[in-house]
Amino acid sequence: MRGDKMIEVNHLSFAYDPAEPVLSDICFQAGRGETIGLIGANGAGKSTFLRMLVGLELSFEGEILIAGERLEKKNLDQVRSRIGYVFQDSDSQLFMTTVEEDVAFAPRNYGFPEEEVRRRVDMALEKVHIEHLRGKSIYKLSGGEKKRAAIATILSMDPEVILMDEPSAALDPKNRRNLIHVINGLEGTRIIASHDLDFIRDTCERTVLLSEGRIIYDGPSQKVLQDRELLEAHNLELPLSLMHVITHTHDGSTHTHMFVHEHAAEHGKDHGTGHGADHGTGHEAMHQADHGTGHETEHGASGIDD
Ligand SMILES: Nc1ncnc2c1ncn2[C@@H]1O[C@H](COP(=O)(O)OP(=O)(O)O)[C@@H](O)[C@H]1O
Ligand SMILES: [Mg+2]
Repeated sequence: MRGDKMIEVNHLSFAYDPAEPVLSDICFQAGRGETIGLIGANGAGKSTFLRMLVGLELSFEGEILIAGERLEKKNLDQVRSRIGYVFQDSDSQLFMTTVEEDVAFAPRNYGFPEEEVRRRVDMALEKVHIEHLRGKSIYKLSGGEKKRAAIATILSMDPEVILMDEPSAALDPKNRRNLIHVINGLEGTRIIASHDLDFIRDTCERTVLLSEGRIIYDGPSQKVLQDRELLEAHNLELPLSLMHVITHTHDGSTHTHMFVHEHAAEHGKDHGTGHGADHGTGHEAMHQADHGTGHETEHGASGIDD
């Protein structure tokens, strides 16, 4: 184990088809307990990067170290036992009949005594707040419950690294909010791939921006998530929670002003609480007045579709 690095990626390049590089010369490190957002437009390489970290694609150039252990075919099982990977699609992760059976599957398969399996199942269900669903059939779960059950199936192995691919996709606002609380309550190094920048803003202090397989930015979330110019240059948009569109009419024409929270920096530490509450604190106008163009939709005109 080199220092406190949980993940170390050196000059990683990868292509499914040699003619089309998907990841190019990625250098990245993650410390113990860090929560890191991985953002980028569709096709940027987010899912591919997560798949590489968990050893699902081994034909890469460069090196990947997990807790100082080089990721390669011969130690795949050992490296993988430290990593929990939450699929984008929960249905692909859940394959047993009940929640309890699914959450018990990995520790049971690993060979833990039944008492230890039970202890791990209890712990995992509690961490995602679904103790009450333990006996429930998987097919009867809602989307949000499935996502939490899928997370529980990896928590039962007590992973040091948790990778999540688009965890908020297809969740309604309440389940999305619940999931933010769950993620913020977990331990371990977390990497969350998402194009839902509001979700990243509520869960990650650090963000990596991928574009066409390259790291464009790696630093504080609060900085990149309010950098409209940079986000737009890479086909992303400001988090909706940072946008306030105000439309008003005077002198016969309608103006639309877009505002950005000036104090977004404070949000970084404020995990899990509703950011929507502090309207009216120092806004900075972005000079977006669309003179004379009539009505613009208010609040989140650009809706992120998840
Ligand atoms: N299994 C695959 N075979 C071939 N190409 C793929 C495969 N998966 C993804 N790609 C391509 O790799 C690129 C990155 O995809 P992906 O990692 O899924 O991006 P993201 O998750 O950021 O949307 C895209 O051009 C995509 O078409
Ligand atoms: Mg993806």
